[in-house]
Amino acid sequence: MSKAIDVALFLHLLGVAVWVGGMVFANFCLRPALSDLSPQLRLPLLEAVYARFFNWVAGSVLVILLTGGFLLQQFGGGHAVWPLHAMAAIGVLMMLIFGHLRFAVFPRIRRAVQAQKWPDGARAVGTVRRLVIVNLVLGVVTIGMAVLSRGF
Ligand code: HEM
Repeated sequence: MSKAIDVALFLHLLGVAVWVGGMVFANFCLRPALSDLSPQLRLPLLEAVYARFFNWVAGSVLVILLTGGFLLQQFGGGHAVWPLHAMAAIGVLMMLIFGHLRFAVFPRIRRAVQAQKWPDGARAVGTVRRLVIVNLVLGVVTIGMAVLSRGF
C-alpha cells in the first residue's frame, strides 16, 4: 500500500471512531444519565453538549468524505467492489441525516432553550435521539461493509 493510502485510511478510521464512538457515548451513556434531571437543567446542558459534539462530527464528516473519496478512487472508482459503493452511499446518507440534525433540529433546541419553551425543546431532543439511533445503525452497517469489502 502506498503511503498516501495508509495516511488516508488512518484519517478515515479516526473520523469514523470520533463520529460513531461519540454517538454511542451520547445515546447510551450521557442521555440516560440525564433523564432524571428537570427540563430546565437537562435541555440547556444537552444544547451545550450537542453544540460541541456537532462541531466534532462536522470535522469528522469532512475528513471521512475527503479520505473516502480518495480511497474509493484508489480502489477502482466506478469499478470498486460493491461493498465500497454501499459504504459510500450509506456514508453520504448518514451525512445528510447529520446535516438535517445540525441545521434543522439543533436550531429548534437552541430557540426552545432561549425562549424557555421546555416541551418544544424536549420534542426536538427526542428527534435528535431517534436520528442518532438511525445513524448509529447505518454506521455499524457501514463498518460491516468495510469488512465485507475485504472478501472480494
Ligand atoms: C463518503 C463516504 C465514504 C466513502 C467514499 C468510503 C470509502 C472507503 C474506502 C474506499 C475504503 C478503503 C477500503 C479498503 O481498505 O479496502 C474505506 C475504508 C473504511 N471505511 Fe469508508 N467510506 C465512506 C464512509 C465511511 C463511513 C461513514 C464509515 C463508518 C461509519 C466507514 C468505515 C470504514 C472502515 C471501518 C474502513 C476500513 C476498512 C478496511 O481497511 O478494511 N466509511 N472507506
